[in-house]
Amino acid sequence: MDRFIDVAVEQFARDHTEPETDLYTRLREETYRVMKSPQMQVDLIEGRFLKMLVRLTGARVVLELGMFTGYSALMMAEGLPEGGRLITCEIDPKAEAIARRYFAESPHGNKITIRMGPALETIKTLTDPLDLVFIDADKSNYANYYEACLPLVRPGGLIVADNVLWSGKVLHPNDANDHAIVAFNRLVQSDRRVENVCLTVRDGMMLAWKRRFAGANSTAGVREREDASRTREAGDSVLVKTEG
Ligand SMILES: C[S@@+](CC[C@H](N)C(=O)[O-])C[C@H]1O[C@@H](n2cnc3c(N)ncnc32)[C@H](O)[C@@H]1O
Repeated sequence: MDRFIDVAVEQFARDHTEPETDLYTRLREETYRVMKSPQMQVDLIEGRFLKMLVRLTGARVVLELGMFTGYSALMMAEGLPEGGRLITCEIDPKAEAIARRYFAESPHGNKITIRMGPALETIKTLTDPLDLVFIDADKSNYANYYEACLPLVRPGGLIVADNVLWSGKVLHPNDANDHAIVAFNRLVQSDRRVENVCLTVRDGMMLAWKRRFAGANSTAGVREREDASRTREAGDSVLVKTEG
């Protein structure tokens, strides 16, 4: 991934972030030693930010799409209170085996349930309201994950999506994944069910906060409650969000 932030400045930020414990360091080192594409793992700053989001939202039920070797799952589990739950989805048994070992070692591992299999199938089985969803699996399904999860998210809950700047390729999309990420960003930006901010943390994180008013589960319900003011931007029709 190309660097957006000066290496020394980023190191300063890391040095002023709650450090990772030995368990996370070992998990990172093993991931880099034995897994293909280890850079898929979130880094310390993003991991600590996810933990902070769990704390700030008072989340008790978190869903993660894309566990890999478990670094982000463990970070978020740390932010959950006793009795809180994190469900995490994965399809790669090699990643699963590593994650399970580290979860077993952590005092927060007992909050985590691993669901193996395509995440879209797992989402269909969920019924409890979700406080926070972290989307970090296959990019081609980002929009599908968002649409499948938003009705399950409680009003005032949060959807967080990783890699939304896609190493800058969002500016000049070329392949199918590039276009999928651009389409996902556009979808969230025009969705009046949420308030959103696109952050330049690491490879870009989209935060979408679900509005609290009645009908927030359906686009139709939102339309009834909002001005239908529209504006045009860069040739696209963009719906203007109003206070929720
Ligand atoms: C970017 S990595 C996740 C990194 C992880 N959040 C971390 O910080 O360590 C994406 C993961 O999603 C998994 N994945 C890909 N397609 C999936 C699907 N359809 N359902 C569930 N997991 C999937 C991949 O096997 C991979 O481990």
